[in-house]
Amino acid sequence: PGPLSSRRCGSAKKVPACAGSSLGKGRGSKLQAMNAKPARLENIVTDKGKVPVYATGIIEQPWDDYSDGDHDVWRQLYERQREILVGRACDEFLAAQDAMGMTPDRIPKFADINAVLEAATGWTLIGVEGLLPELDFFDHLANRRFPVTWWIRRPDQIDYIAEPDLFHDLFGHVPLLMNPLFADYMQAYGRGGVKAHGVGPEALANLTRLYWYTVEFGLINTSQGLRIYGAGIVSSKGESLYSLESPAPNRLGFDLERIMRTRYRIDTFQKTYFVIDSFEQLMEATRPDCVPIYERRATLESLPAGSVLDSDEVIQRGNGDGWAADGDV
Ligand code: PHE
Ligand code: CO
Repeated sequence: PGPLSSRRCGSAKKVPACAGSSLGKGRGSKLQAMNAKPARLENIVTDKGKVPVYATGIIEQPWDDYSDGDHDVWRQLYERQREILVGRACDEFLAAQDAMGMTPDRIPKFADINAVLEAATGWTLIGVEGLLPELDFFDHLANRRFPVTWWIRRPDQIDYIAEPDLFHDLFGHVPLLMNPLFADYMQAYGRGGVKAHGVGPEALANLTRLYWYTVEFGLINTSQGLRIYGAGIVSSKGESLYSLESPAPNRLGFDLERIMRTRYRIDTFQKTYFVIDSFEQLMEATRPDCVPIYERRATLESLPAGSVLDSDEVIQRGNGDGWAADGDV
């Protein structure tokens, strides 16, 4: 799961995600399953479109209740993405997936992943029913707890689902939590989220854009070329290919303040991807106090998702093919 306003995705592309809840446990204490009976909550459709459901309880993964069909959906998605991601996802992501013992055979047990993850970086997966309110989500991250939606999409949702499910969260987000730098980044983001939440909705919107353009849709430059690290990309077949190979989107160098001004797409592939040089760069650039940035930003207009500025480091300028004229969030 991810920050509130950055969830859900519309038509045929990505899958953001993130959720969690806050029980206010002390660091390192055992979290207790709150709901005896997990509910498979999905977005409800209203005249304003899909509305996410926010359930804050932490639940025990009901592993024995997964059907053969659920395991089969995991297998299909896992095999398909792993094939696509070799040479497209960054090495850290692929290596971490192997190190965590994820396999296509069956849906992993959170407890098994946790045994490896806690030893590696001190992160813990917690089961949730779906999207979380922002502050709950930030609080989990700030305490190195990553909320994972316990349920997996249906077979007819293999190519697209409008909200985070187990595949997006576990396959997409969790591997990089094995990386010490990225693990620290996610915790720092959670702390920054708690702070931004106190500053106000605009500060929060700026921070959410950062999450969107890094954690969900980030690209990284390597000696072998551009690679994917964003969870929204690696969990989507279409966007894994599009983000790297399509001439349509812009690919711009990472720039914190620029990203905080930039609107984004929730229902199509991104118009712009921001490229980091390393996870160190991401850590260093986001380390300073962001409150002065929020204050500066408050007087500036936000930028359309597909905009390119003179001041941008343009790695590749998109030709804009197939872009929707409106709908930037
Ligand atoms: N440095 C940011 C702040 O002061 C928080 C932050 C850290 C944001 C890491 C993203 C990643 O609020
Ligand atoms: Co996500």
